[in-house]
Amino acid sequence: MAVITLDKSWLRACLVLDNRALDSLWTENQWCRELEEPHRLCLGLPDSRALLGVACGWCVVDELHITAIAVDPAVRRRGYGRDLLVALLQRARQNGAIYATLEVASNNVSAVRLYADCKFQTAGIRHNYYSDGSDALIQWCRIANDS
Ligand SMILES: CC(C)(COP(=O)(O)OP(=O)(O)OC[C@H]1O[C@@H](n2cnc3c(N)ncnc32)[C@H](O)[C@@H]1OP(=O)(O)O)[C@@H](O)C(=O)NCCC(=O)NCCS
Repeated sequence: MAVITLDKSWLRACLVLDNRALDSLWTENQWCRELEEPHRLCLGLPDSRALLGVACGWCVVDELHITAIAVDPAVRRRGYGRDLLVALLQRARQNGAIYATLEVASNNVSAVRLYADCKFQTAGIRHNYYSDGSDALIQWCRIANDS
């Protein structure tokens, strides 16, 4: 299955996936922004007109800030999350990014392992950051080709 760049025509599919995989993290307006703004990257793994997963981020100078990565619960642990993350990093690198960063809840085992697999390192901790009391791990990875 091939990762594609998502445009506004994928809005409904993004909302459905967000509901299934991210507990409705973003509103319709927020998804519109992700899909439309030029400095944002929004990639997806399509299955007909549905999405099996998405990976989004925005580029600030030479940094990619990853804002969401999610895979439909029905198809997790098949490598799709890694495929999406790798594609997002590759696209950001092509756009001139040198570093990638994100925040992840310390108790989100699957995501923490995925980022560690992809060479992210914890550069800082925000204690009690999330509503359930878990910490936010601030993750960084150098993604430039000369690393
Ligand atoms: C995190 C998430 C995107 C991973 O997607 P996925 O397609 O299941 O992940 P992959 O199959 O590509 O797994 C890649 C690696 O991540 C780690 N991983 C993924 N799921 C895991 C789990 N349930 N337990 C432990 N490690 C896990 C493993 O290291 C795995 O490599 P391996 O299969 O060779 O052991 C998915 O669990 C998800 O959508 N979670 C909800 C949304 C979320 O929390 N997003 C991150 C916010 S920061």
